[in-house]
Amino acid sequence: MSEGSLAAPWWQRGVIYQIYPRSFADSNGDGIGDLAGIEAHLDHVANLGVDAIWLSPIFPSPMADFGYDVADYTGVEAMFGDLAAFDRLLAAVHVRGLRLLLDFVPNHSSTQHPWFVESRSSRDSPKRDWYIWRDPAPDGGPPNNWISDMGGPAWELDPATGQYYLHTFLKEQADLNWRNPDVAQAMTDVMRFWLDRGVDGFRIDVLWHIVKAQGLPDNPANPDWREGMAEKLRVLQHHSTDQPEAHAFTRGMRQLADSYGETLLVGEIFLPRDRLMRWYGSEAEPGVHLPFNFELIENSWNRDTLARLIADYDAAIPDHGWPNWVIGSHDAPRIAARVGEAQARVAAMLLLTLRGTPTLYQGDELGIGTVDIPPDRIRDPQDLRQPGMGLGRDRSRTPMAWDASPNAGFSTAVPWLPLHPDWPMRNVAVQEQDPHSMLALYRRLLAARRAHPALSLGRMTLHDTPGDVLAYERVHAGQRLFVALNFGPDAQDITPPARPGRIIAATGTRTAFDGRIDGDEGFIVELEP
Ligand code: NOJ
Ligand code: CA
Repeated sequence: MSEGSLAAPWWQRGVIYQIYPRSFADSNGDGIGDLAGIEAHLDHVANLGVDAIWLSPIFPSPMADFGYDVADYTGVEAMFGDLAAFDRLLAAVHVRGLRLLLDFVPNHSSTQHPWFVESRSSRDSPKRDWYIWRDPAPDGGPPNNWISDMGGPAWELDPATGQYYLHTFLKEQADLNWRNPDVAQAMTDVMRFWLDRGVDGFRIDVLWHIVKAQGLPDNPANPDWREGMAEKLRVLQHHSTDQPEAHAFTRGMRQLADSYGETLLVGEIFLPRDRLMRWYGSEAEPGVHLPFNFELIENSWNRDTLARLIADYDAAIPDHGWPNWVIGSHDAPRIAARVGEAQARVAAMLLLTLRGTPTLYQGDELGIGTVDIPPDRIRDPQDLRQPGMGLGRDRSRTPMAWDASPNAGFSTAVPWLPLHPDWPMRNVAVQEQDPHSMLALYRRLLAARRAHPALSLGRMTLHDTPGDVLAYERVHAGQRLFVALNFGPDAQDITPPARPGRIIAATGTRTAFDGRIDGDEGFIVELEP
């Protein structure tokens, strides 16, 4: 769990904040967030104390999957603004010393993208091979047994040309064929377009999906699948994901990014730890800088599980790699809904004190918790296609609450998704006035992180502590900090490994160390070097 250096790139010291543009702030009263809305609320992001913004897709899109169905990779969706609005936003981000990452969606485009329209027009289209077309199986059905991540077959028949096209997600999202060099070239040009405009990197959507096994063999059945589980889990995605050839493309993306300076590539990759690590590439041939680590989301919330996964994940990072941690997103359930408000405070401290770049998700800094979406307001296509299975993502995409004015200051109109129920109290304006609020805690933690390089770059040593308490040291350049987190409700004694000094930050009201940690409490205390 080694130490970083002060010459470390910004993203090793920094914190990423994810903005879901539809739900951040609406500037023109259509109930949907937009770029000007984000620009108007950038001070919130800067005051929070993060370093970079990752924007979920802002490109022209029919919005079948709310922007992850891109109809033009080098434009801006009219609902969000235009290229000029984007340039203004980017300049406003940079003026505040922040960076901006865009969401690059290389696996699939919208079926309304001109490339796909051309591809579908005939079997002889020069772009036919830009997507993955196959003849029907002998019985007329889909070419293989692959299942869409949104449920149902991953193939859609195009009656005009008599072939099926592959769609790993919705049928409105056709998979691109990365084995065609023209596709790889076109997508490189897309990255270059935005890098030339000044963006600081990309979060890359479903990166481990981009290449499929030659011949598209059937996926093996999943022996652990049971009724009630998501349909995509019926098969193991052996042949449809994580192909060795994908690494060459990732290396190409990395070379391009590196040619623009300290540009960051974050790969969205859901794989078991050992396979995830391969996406770092090697020192000579690096992959993405940060393959997203979703282990805090995927595992149960208790001391033993977390202690084990933190140690094992950290040990698995290759020497040239850098760890990272994610606790929420527009796809995952809200952390406060999962573990409750008291533990969400402990989670905030964990996320911001572990060794590795943290990614925060908008609204978690307010502690937005459970939101029940009434059936007639469900918008998530994944939920609509597989109803009642708890797969809904709308509950994490509800609008930001800025103040107690109508529609929470998000919009002058009724927002596209309902607000969380306690928004009149749980909003930025109210929490800014309250030193005990979740927002105040996030600001304290981010300020502490900035003031103490040990929290970002420091070596990390896990300690053996009793009961529900997890404790670790972060050490850097003569700075020695001890983090203690109680994942249970009962107070416990705690003995730091050296004489304790000042409390740097606490989840509650603690100002001095007294040999105890309260239930559901977390604190950071200075140790004598
Ligand atoms: C992952 C994105 O985060 C999710 O929202 C989307 O539905 C899929 N990729 C498909 O692009
Ligand atoms: Ca709007």
